Amino acid sequence: MKKADFFKEKVIIITGSSSGIGRATSLALAQYGSKVVLASRTIEKLIPLEEQITSKGGQALAIKTDICSLVDINKMIKETILKWGRIDILIACAGQYFPDITSELDINKYQESMTLNFFGTLNSIKNTLPEMKRQRSGHIVIINSLDSKKGIVGDGPYVSAKAALDGFGDVLRQEMKPFNIKVTSIFPGRVNTPMIESIKVPLITKKIPPEKVVKAILKAIKGNKANVIVPSVFSFVTILNYLMPHFSDWAYRVLKIQGQHDN
Ligand SMILES: NC(=O)c1ccc[n+]([C@@H]2O[C@H](COP(=O)([O-])OP(=O)(O)OC[C@H]3O[C@@H](n4cnc5c(N)ncnc54)[C@H](OP(=O)(O)O)[C@@H]3O)[C@@H](O)[C@H]2O)c1
Repeated sequence: MKKADFFKEKVIIITGSSSGIGRATSLALAQYGSKVVLASRTIEKLIPLEEQITSKGGQALAIKTDICSLVDINKMIKETILKWGRIDILIACAGQYFPDITSELDINKYQESMTLNFFGTLNSIKNTLPEMKRQRSGHIVIINSLDSKKGIVGDGPYVSAKAALDGFGDVLRQEMKPFNIKVTSIFPGRVNTPMIESIKVPLITKKIPPEKVVKAILKAIKGNKANVIVPSVFSFVTILNYLMPHFSDWAYRVLKIQGQHDN
C-alpha cells in the first residue's frame, strides 16, 4: 500500500509539533492526507503551521498543550475526539535536552528531565489509551533517542529519562498487544533541530535533517516496527555497548561524542 493510501484520513496527534522533528512529521503527514493534531505549548507557532497546512488543502487542528499538564492533555484528547471522532496514532515527540555539564549529579536537572521527557510522555500516552482501547486499534510512537542506548558524557538527565522511556516502550508494546494497539520506539542519532543547535558534533555523528527521521517514522508505523534506530548504521552502537562497554566508552571519548561539553 502506498503511504498516501495508508495515512489518508488517519487522525494523528503529534506532540512537540511546533518545531524540529514534530513539525516536519506534521507537515509530511498532512501532505499524505492525515488529519493532524498539532500539540505543543507555543500556540503562536502552531496557528501559522495549521494555516500553512489548511491553505494547501490539508486538515490540521492546533491545540495548545503542555504535556506535563493532565488538564491540557485531557483537553487535547477531548478536542480531537470532538472534531474527528477518534485517535488512530499518537506520535509522542515533545521533549527537551537537559544536560548536566557540572557532572555533579544536579538532582533538580534530573527531576526536570524526568518530569518532561519521561512523565510528560507517559501522560500523553496514558490518557490516549482509553480511546484506543475503546476503538480496539491504535498506534503509539515514542520518539526516543540513540542516547538511551549509549549514554553521552554531560547528558545524564536527558539520557536517564530517555533510557527510562526505552524500558517503558518495551513493556507497553507487550501489554497493548491484546488491545490491538501497536507501539513503536524511534531512536534518532543527532538531528539538525533547534534542540541541539548550540552543540557542535564530530563528522561521524553529523546532524541528519529532520526529514530523514520523518521518513523512518512513517516507514516504522506502516511496517509496525518495534524499534527503529536512525540512521540505521548506528544500530551497531547498541550491540557494541552491550558487548564491549569499555571499548564503546573509549570510542565515544576518542571521537569526541559528547553533550554540551563540546562548546
Ligand atoms: N535533535 C536531536 O538531535 C534529537 C535526537 C534524538 C531524539 N530527539 C528527540 O526528538 C524529539 C523532538 O526534538 P527536536 O529535536 O525536534 O527538538 P525541538 O526542535 O526543540 O522541538 C521540541 C518540541 O517539543 C515541544 N515541547 C517541549 N516541551 C514541551 C511541553 N512541556 N509540552 C509540550 N510540548 C513541549 C516543543 O514545543 P513548545 O516549546 O512549543 O512546547 C517543540 O515543539 C524530542 O523528544 C527529542 O528528545 C532529538
